[in-house]
Amino acid sequence: MGFRIGVVGATGATGQITLALLRERNFPVDELRLFASRRSAGRRLPWAGGEVEIEALEDGRFDGLDLVLNATSTSLAREWVPRMVEAGAIVSDKSSAYRLDPSVPLVVREINGDAARSHKGIVASPNCTTAVAVMALAPLHHAAGVKGVLSSSYQSVSGVGRDAVAELLETTTKALDQQDALWGLAKLDLPDPVAFPHPLAFNVFPQCESFEEGSDESTEEQKMQSETRKILGAADLMLQATAVRVPVVVGHSVSLSVSLEREMSPAEAREVIAEFAGVRVLDDPSKKIYPTPQQAAGIDDILVGRIRRNPILENGLTLFACGDNLRKGASLNAIQTAELVLGIS
Ligand SMILES: NC(=O)c1ccc[n+]([C@@H]2O[C@H](COP(=O)([O-])OP(=O)(O)OC[C@H]3O[C@@H](n4cnc5c(N)ncnc54)[C@H](OP(=O)(O)O)[C@@H]3O)[C@@H](O)[C@H]2O)c1
Repeated sequence: MGFRIGVVGATGATGQITLALLRERNFPVDELRLFASRRSAGRRLPWAGGEVEIEALEDGRFDGLDLVLNATSTSLAREWVPRMVEAGAIVSDKSSAYRLDPSVPLVVREINGDAARSHKGIVASPNCTTAVAVMALAPLHHAAGVKGVLSSSYQSVSGVGRDAVAELLETTTKALDQQDALWGLAKLDLPDPVAFPHPLAFNVFPQCESFEEGSDESTEEQKMQSETRKILGAADLMLQATAVRVPVVVGHSVSLSVSLEREMSPAEAREVIAEFAGVRVLDDPSKKIYPTPQQAAGIDDILVGRIRRNPILENGLTLFACGDNLRKGASLNAIQTAELVLGIS
């Protein structure tokens, strides 16, 4: 038996990967409906040897759908997800609109898949950096209790969406024509950034998303804290995050320094992480073996390496993880959660 599926935000960075994953996973689709903005309505996208026409979001259009995979902005999700649920669909939502709502399960299948059963129509997926970090933290937490985490993330541009990737590629081309400026011998002349707070070509900056008035933590950093606590079921977990944007197209990286309830050797950490589903250990630095975002892009597993003692933190370990922000960080996780809810896996 197949399902009638809606993909909302089908033309976006995560929407496109959602369509690829539905094919890759042979998801049982009886009928596919695609939604995007009015700008895209009427365009057709290839599906199952034919084409599907994109529709705009309008009441009445969700009738008969079993599942909606939603990848729109948080404000659109707040407006439209309740209407999709009212029309009878289960919504697997990638936005941040419902992640911290106590009545909505925030699910990562390998960690708290059981939570999906308590849904009341909406299941949420975590922020893309949180998804990478929790997959590395969960095996340590289960084995030895994580008390505190210092996290520094190196976040790719596709995490901001499709238009941000176009902006990075365009400004990188312009910067390549200004070699003196790249050496610091002249002022780099680039158009004002639209998707970013600063030009990102050949640059990094410690801001992902925004800083609310009076807060010294970005909204992205706040999400890391609250979502990690909810997914791990660890309300007292101390976590400080620094989220940095880097000129990488796909693949988020995160350096995690962890304080545990008991001592754990790097060898034991490698063992428990390697046994955890959805995670692969790459850890032989003298042979140049460790995770990189390029290796993580296009694959489902989270890669973990550089596992070593941290002499500063109590029972401390430091590690480095990379994951595809569009797959496990978004579309893959949303589909895995939908599979749980629909009883497919
Ligand atoms: N990118 C990531 O790594 C990632 C990871 C986790 C979660 N998320 C979340 O997933 C959501 C989508 O992110 P994204 O990166 O895929 O964004 P994106 O590349 O900017 O795509 C946005 C999508 O929303 C559609 N859209 C815009 N306005 C609309 C409207 N008024 N009505 C219906 N559809 C509309 C766009 O359609 P048009 O083509 O017609 O403009 C496009 O399909 C966001 O909430 C984001 O926070 C993203």
